[in-house]
Order: sequence, then C-alpha cells, then structure tokens
Amino acid sequence: MNKLITAVTLMLLFLGPIGCGKVYNSSTYDASTYGSADGSAQFLAAKTIIKNSCANCHTRPSHEAWSGMSEKDFISKGLVAAGNLAGSSLYTKIQGNRTSTPGNMPDGGSLLTGSELDTLESWILNITP
Ligand code: HEC
Repeated sequence: MNKLITAVTLMLLFLGPIGCGKVYNSSTYDASTYGSADGSAQFLAAKTIIKNSCANCHTRPSHEAWSGMSEKDFISKGLVAAGNLAGSSLYTKIQGNRTSTPGNMPDGGSLLTGSELDTLESWILNITP
C-alpha cells in the first residue's frame, strides 16, 4: 500500500509540471503556444485581426510568429512605428491601406474591411514612443 502511495505521488510530481504551462513546439510553430499577448487594449483589438487575417501565413520562422508576438515585439522588429502609419510596414503592406504605399496583403486572402483598418490605425496611432 505504501509503495502504491509513493508511486502515485511520484507520478503526480513528474506529471504536474508537464500539465501546467504551454510547451513550445518547434516543429509546427503552433502560434497559440508560441508566446503571450501583451500590450495595450488597442493592440489586443488589432491583434485579433492580425491573428485572423495574417497569422495563418505569418507564423513561420521566415515571417516571425506574429500571433505570439507582444506589442513591443512588433515595434522592436520594425513592423510598426509609433504614431506613424506610413512608416509601419505591417500597415502599408495591407492592400487598400490609407497611405500612398500600395500593399498586397493578405496575400491571396480576403481584403480587410474598413473597420479592421480603423482598428489597426487606432492601435498604431496610439502607441506611445
Ligand atoms: C496567404 C499568406 C499570407 C497572408 C494571409 C498574409 N501574408 Fe503577408 N506575406 C506573405 C508572403 C508570401 C510575404 C512575402 C512576399 C511579399 O512581401 O509580398 C509576405 C510579406 C509581408 C510583409 C513584409 C515582410 C515581413 O514579414 O515583414 C508584411 C509587412 C506583411 N506580409 C504583412 C501582412 C499583413 C498585415 C497581413 C494581414 C492583413 C498579411 N501579411 C497576411 C504571405 C501572407
């Protein structure tokens, strides 16, 4: 009986840490386990759009793992510039964006709506440098 209790306790000790926390999976680059989202409320709203319209492609190593990136990551990687739509490649790459730079994203996917563009704009324009 004591042996059984010891065995169960050991199992729980080993399995506990595995059950908690997400495991990084390098072979699939599973976006949902790639990192945590943190940033302003405007960022979180923008991030929903990025996740839905962009991250199905932009999850690979060559494109970074956008859906796991924090607001700071987007800034430090130069994808967005605080308060500057025309200087934010993430924004100017979007087809139909409201700058003079023509975009082609989402590549082959359905175009972003006006309100989705509004959400992305209000994020970028509200970033404090
Ligand atoms: C169907 C796949 C696909 C989708 C969806 C997609 N992209 Fe891309 N994206 C690509 C490919 C392929 C490239 C590289 C070729 C190019 O630059 O046109 C790229 C390049 C980019 C680049 C320049 C390179 C980089 O990684 O910095 C930006 C910025 C970008 N995409 C933004 C977006 C945004 C914003 C969305 C969502 C609105 C989006 N993409 C959706 C496939 C996609």
